[in-house]
This record gives sequence, C-alpha cells and structure tokens, in this order.
Amino acid sequence: MALKITVIGTGYLGATHAAAMAELGFEVLGLDVVPEKIEMLQRGEVPIYEPGLEDLLRKHVAGIEGASGRLRFTMDWAEVAEFGDVHFVCVNTPQKHGEYACDMSYVDAAFTSLAPHLKGPALVVGKSTVPVGSADRLARTLAGLAPAGEDAELAWNPEFLREGLAVKDTLHPDRIVAGVRSERAEKLLREVYATPLAEGTPFVVTDFPTAELVKTSANSFLATKISFINAMAEMCEASGGDVAKLAEAIGYDDRIGKKFLRAGIGFGGGCLPKDIRAFMARAGELGADQALTFLREIDSINMRQRGQMVELTRQALGGGSFLGKRVAVLGATFKPDSDDVRDSPALNVAGQIHLQGGQVTVYDPKGMENARRLFPTLGYADSAIEAVRGADVVLHLTEWREFRELDPAVLGGAVSRRLVLDGRNALDPAVWRAAGWTYRAMGRPAA
Ligand code: UDX
Repeated sequence: MALKITVIGTGYLGATHAAAMAELGFEVLGLDVVPEKIEMLQRGEVPIYEPGLEDLLRKHVAGIEGASGRLRFTMDWAEVAEFGDVHFVCVNTPQKHGEYACDMSYVDAAFTSLAPHLKGPALVVGKSTVPVGSADRLARTLAGLAPAGEDAELAWNPEFLREGLAVKDTLHPDRIVAGVRSERAEKLLREVYATPLAEGTPFVVTDFPTAELVKTSANSFLATKISFINAMAEMCEASGGDVAKLAEAIGYDDRIGKKFLRAGIGFGGGCLPKDIRAFMARAGELGADQALTFLREIDSINMRQRGQMVELTRQALGGGSFLGKRVAVLGATFKPDSDDVRDSPALNVAGQIHLQGGQVTVYDPKGMENARRLFPTLGYADSAIEAVRGADVVLHLTEWREFRELDPAVLGGAVSRRLVLDGRNALDPAVWRAAGWTYRAMGRPAA
C-alpha cells in the first residue's frame, strides 16, 4: 500500500513540500496552526509569491475542480497522527530577537503536539534547519511522548530549496540527505523518494549530526562565496579593477565555479544570514567557536556592503547630505522572483538613505505589500517609471528580469539626472551608457 504523507507547517518549505508530494502521487495531509493559512490553502492559494506553487496546489487540493484531491489540510494533530505513515516537520526556525541563536520553539511545539498522538508505527522526518544536536534531542522527546514507543522513529532530511525556485528545487533536488538511525527509517525515506524525483539523484545516508550539518555548512559555504567576491569587489574599488571580469575569469576554474560570484549589496533573506549566525551560536555552545570565527567576518563583509552602497550613492550625488535628493529604488525583495523582504539588503539601503534625509521612492514587482508593512515611511510607486520620475539617482537593488528589460532611453526621459547605480551588477553597462546614463556598480571602475 502506498505511503501516506503528512506535512507539518505550511509556510514556504511545507506548502511546497506538500504540493510536491501530492504531485508525486502520494496522499498528503498538511497541518498548520494558523486557521487563515489553512483556509487559503484549501482554496488553492498561497500567502507568498512563489512561481508555480499555486498551480501545483490547484492541481491537487481536494475540493478544487479538476484537482487530483490527493492534498488536504487540517489543524487537527490527532487526524495527522492517524493519517500518516511519514510525517515531515517543516516549521521555521527564525533568528531569536537580539540573539544569534535560532528560535526552536516551533519545532519543539510540533514534536510535543504530534508525539502524544502517535499510537502506531510512524516515521517523523525533520526538514527544518536546526542547530546540530537537535535531532538527537528531538528523538528523545519523541521516544518519551509517543505511545508507540520505539515504533515512532525520527529521521533528519534537510531541504535545500531556494526561494523563487522552490517547486523546481523540490521536484528536482541536487541531492537527498537522509540522517537515519535504523534500516527501517532509511527504507521508508527511500520509498518516499523512490519516485521520478529521485531518479539519478544522489541519496546520501548519514547519522543525525552530519545531516544537520550538511544544511548549515552548505549555506555557510554559499554565504562565504558571496562575501568572498564582495571582498574582492572592495579590492577592485581600491585598485581600479573590475570585479565582474574577475569573477568571470576565476569562475572558469571549475574548482571555483561561476555560480554565486555576483558582487553587490550582498545576501539577505530568511536563510543565509540567520543560518550562519545560528551556526556560530551553536559552535560556541559546543566549545568549538574558533572553528567558525571566519563566519563572523563573512557576516560583517556582507553587512558592510549595504553601507558601501549608501556611500557610493552619496558620492555619486556629490557627497554630503541626502537632504533634498530624490532617490529611486528599483527592488525591495532580498532576491528576484520572491515577495520576501526579510533581511532584504535592498530595503536596508533604501531605509538608510531615507533615515539620512533622502526622498526615497521604491518599486518592486512583487514585494510592495510586504515592504510597505515593514517600512511604511518610505515612498512607494506603482511602476518603475513612476518610481524614477524626477529622480536624481536610480538605485538598482534587486535584479528582477523586469528591471533588466527596462529601456534606459525611456527611463532617461523621466529622471532629472541620468545616474544609475547597480547594486547587483546585473544591468548591462554598455546599454545604459549608450543611452546617456552614468553607470556605476560596486567593484567596477567608472567609465
Ligand atoms: C538559500 C540557499 O541557496 C538554499 O539552498 C537554502 O535552502 C536556503 O537559503 P535563498 O535564501 O532562497 O536560498 O536564496 P539564494 O538564491 O541562495 O540567495 C541568497 C542571497 O544571496 C540573495 O539575497 C541573493 O541576492 C544573494 N546573492 C546570491 C548574491 O548576492 N550574489 C550571488 O552571487 C548569489
């Protein structure tokens, strides 16, 4: 008989995982503790912008016309325990307020709510990003609370999806990592992934701590790559070099690779910044803090980039105060194809300039609602052309395709001065310069 899957937590990760599991043919029951989320999902709607996710949900959510009906949602823990053979825990682990460590309260609540209802054999699979050592602790929680005793088992199976590409990354992962303590757990996880999803996909079996560490070390490596190239951008600034050419040239060495070497205002979002901080906090708890002191530098290079963008803007405007200057900001989200503004470098730069007296107007294709909520005192416009109207400088801070496709000649007719600063090194300098713009980017020489 086919396995039945439950997904606990229907945020970014959970909603995508639940829809993907239904797509693969499983009967899926998703749980969330927020009634409004459940109501939306039951209508096939998602509270976030993620390309392809709503289509996938509508294809499977029970009650929607033409849907497979394989995907349902509930708020009832007993129903979830009764329904599922395999329970994926997909709740989030945000950074704690004012601390480096991450907040495990949602993960802990998921385990203490589910476990007392597990009366028969079940595999609980942690997918959330957690401090190393959590799985061991949660296995004990499970054993202590589940009436099924040893029949209720834990596995750790980190998720590597990227926002904006969540559906693709879930259906076509680079690798599957299975932290297990028994053959039975491994067999069950292999069965879940023994679908087209896993065909040709490396399946790496590990112990618990390695599985947890794979996730945090992968994100640390990615963060390191970005801060590395941003440090090189500073060196290029200091010496007159061009970081875009430098990245291209070092990227031809396939030990280095081309990806994640785009210099600019740095990384943000709900994962990389908080994951490297939580990793450092955990290293300290384990007495291994020296192993990760380099991540402190990675974090500070990253945060410095935002300040440098502000300074580049100030200099380009002739130095001094921003008072009376009109600054157009293209992009509010932390990356394109997402409406997520959590720890967004773009909004941070916009906010700093605003707080220093600049008259800032922001436009983003999908992030306006979230940006307005987070930073209500900034100015907002409904389109790129409206945002740049009368601007003394245009800042390109999130590399949406829409911005790359803008016609600089048309935009040039709306601004008061043709000055564009590319915080993402993603616009074509030649095209903008040909249209009469002064183009500047971090780590690249002025023309
Ligand atoms: C990341 C990891 O990539 C993913 O594997 C993990 O599961 C979650 O965290 P995500 O946060 O969605 O995914 O975004 P990602 O594409 O990694 O970009 C992170 C940030 O780095 C963005 O702000 C992006 O603009 C920035 N970035 C990325 C750069 O500044 N330069 C680059 O070359 C690449």
